[in-house]
Amino acid sequence: MKNNTPDIKYLFEPRQVAVIGASHDPAKIGSKILRNIVASGYRGRIYPVNPKGGEILGLPAARSLEEVEGELDVVCTCVPAKFVFESVKASAAKHAKFNLVITSGFSEVGNSREEREITSYARERGMRIIGPNIFGMYSAAAALDMTFGPGGIVPGSVAIITQSGALGLAMIGKTAAENIGLSALVSVGNKADIGEAELLEYLVDDPHTLSIMMYIEGVREGAPLVEILKRVSRRKPVVVIKSGRSRRGAAAAASHTGSLAGSDAVFDAVMRQCGVLRAESVQEGFDLCKFLARTKVPAGRNAVIVTNGGGIGVLATDACEKYGVKLLDDAENLKTVFSQVTPDFGSTKNPIDLTGGATSDHYTGALDAALKDGGIDAVIALYCETAVFDAENLGPMIRENFAKYRDAGKPIVFSAFGGASIDATLRKLSTEKVPIFGDVYDAVRTLGGVYRQYDNLARPPLEPEEAQVDIAAVERLVAGARADGRTFLLAHEGRQLMELVGIRPPQSRVARTLEEAVHCANEIGYPVVLKVVSRDILHKSDAGGVALDLENRGEVIDAYQAILRNCRAAVPDARIDGIEVAEMIAKGLELIVGARRDPGFGPIVMFGLGGIYVEVMKDVSFRAVPIDRTEAMSMMKEIRAYPLLLGVRGEERKDMESVIDAIIRLATVIRRCESISDIEVNPIVVYEEGKGSKAVDVRVLLSK
Ligand code: COA
Repeated sequence: MKNNTPDIKYLFEPRQVAVIGASHDPAKIGSKILRNIVASGYRGRIYPVNPKGGEILGLPAARSLEEVEGELDVVCTCVPAKFVFESVKASAAKHAKFNLVITSGFSEVGNSREEREITSYARERGMRIIGPNIFGMYSAAAALDMTFGPGGIVPGSVAIITQSGALGLAMIGKTAAENIGLSALVSVGNKADIGEAELLEYLVDDPHTLSIMMYIEGVREGAPLVEILKRVSRRKPVVVIKSGRSRRGAAAAASHTGSLAGSDAVFDAVMRQCGVLRAESVQEGFDLCKFLARTKVPAGRNAVIVTNGGGIGVLATDACEKYGVKLLDDAENLKTVFSQVTPDFGSTKNPIDLTGGATSDHYTGALDAALKDGGIDAVIALYCETAVFDAENLGPMIRENFAKYRDAGKPIVFSAFGGASIDATLRKLSTEKVPIFGDVYDAVRTLGGVYRQYDNLARPPLEPEEAQVDIAAVERLVAGARADGRTFLLAHEGRQLMELVGIRPPQSRVARTLEEAVHCANEIGYPVVLKVVSRDILHKSDAGGVALDLENRGEVIDAYQAILRNCRAAVPDARIDGIEVAEMIAKGLELIVGARRDPGFGPIVMFGLGGIYVEVMKDVSFRAVPIDRTEAMSMMKEIRAYPLLLGVRGEERKDMESVIDAIIRLATVIRRCESISDIEVNPIVVYEEGKGSKAVDVRVLLSK
């Protein structure tokens, strides 16, 4: 299929476009799209297609696509749903490369079958579909606005991919109002064929695109998206906004891993893993994209706040803590840098307080000093409106200093707070593409995003790791369960799986006689546990079928006899297959490790605090597979209970290496054995460093 697919370049840089359903009626969508194509200054050939023929917006309209002569890179389909397949067939017959299906009325309203038929028809003939149910696309590289938006898109360097139509259309006006220049805007709608991943393949190399914003509602076949996002985010910042933090999917999940993963947590974790910056709102997304398209990431972590007000300086300090911006606190260095440019009654401690008497010259003095100092990597410059400030100089001061910082590659964010004149300054600077914020939290949040990007770039690239696992033996084990008509493994099969995978389960054997039980206990080593094995006794403890902490031969003999007696009394007809003799698990820290096939992202792994409260605590982290040891370690560091692994209140540090090993092993199995859908080890008990961990309880579900 891959060879049969056209170069994505022709979607963004088409040489000819046809609009099927270009209308004579200016109120209709087909007419609006044609008008935008013409108005945006597109230099390629434009072919309106309308059964009535004639002329539309001064262009001759073909009565059908067959009448169009020459090649077609892109066809835009805006005819009612019942005619879409026909127009896709006509486009494929003309060997068109891409078809933008604007029309609604497909999978979004339950009509998935026709959508699938259209898509596979097109793909078999080497044509790709965008949509259906989209508002079109804009590409600055081709000066082409092929949307039914309001027009007036400002060309620039931010690319937007959006799954939401209405929001995407509204973004056209919003970006124009905020003077955010766009390099591309693509509506992906139902994503029947082309999704975000393929569009990113173009944008990663597009020299016009400096930052990318994506609005995502759901992810399907996420593995290629993960792969490309990891690559793109190292070259250009990618910001994602995701809606639908719903838990509905979670309710149906059959394992802890499934139910915890059903929440928004997996999306969040995978985006972070990919180096993508997640924004909570469209405004935050715009702020970040705008800023990152205009500024380099800083050289280091040390930021300073320069302010004329103590209160706003404290607010900014709080915001820095919230958004992960580290403030320089080397008092000596700060004094050396700022004492010459700070009034006597001001402060050279971070925040640098220029006091309410500060003028534009004071600001420029302090900002110049910070710019020159190699120990300062970023600046947050705050201004509260005062009567003494030369208000007319605020705008020019900010503009000049921003330019100096930009040229030097050092990030600076400005925030100004005050009345009407401040608002006017904010608006004016914004239209001049100078990043400035009315709210100090918004300014610091944006710098926090820059630092998230800094951290992403500082992370070493992933070196996927796989464990040695006898996959064929695992498949044989699974086949046995399937032959038995099951879609899950029994407890002893789960243990067998752990042995095959290389995660240590507690030692255990089934004894059929008293002598055998004693022999097993001697082999395993004391203390041991005895448990009845019977398909007729579900609640072993209630039937007196369990004995714990048996220290020696005598205790094993007594317990064996007591268990048989108790069980025969409790369930007289029970078939007793034997008595399980198992290692008594020593106390340690109870963790959970899991792996599953996520509906959106494919194979994922989970790590967290385990035991019976796992769903209450929800102290877990996720990653898309493959991972490496560094990534597995970062999963551990992410949970709130991480200090327990380091050892608290005089406890020893835990054997984290053995848990990392277990995570990598589960990642290997879930990636290589399609027949397994969920594996969960809860608890895996971890001991002190060097003493390993034990997989106490294992649940395995098979793919349906
Ligand atoms: N080939 C070429 N042109 C055709 C045609 C065909 N097979 N069948 C119809 N047309 C022409 C019609 O004659 C008409 O032109 P005219 O006005 O000059 O007569 C034009 O195509 C449009 O057809 P019409 O029946 O008037 O449809 P419409 O404009 O009311 O609606 C859509 C068409 C695609 C806009 C509509 O079906 C739709 O899906 N709207 C929702 C779009 C949307 O919201 N998308 C998601 C956004 S996020």
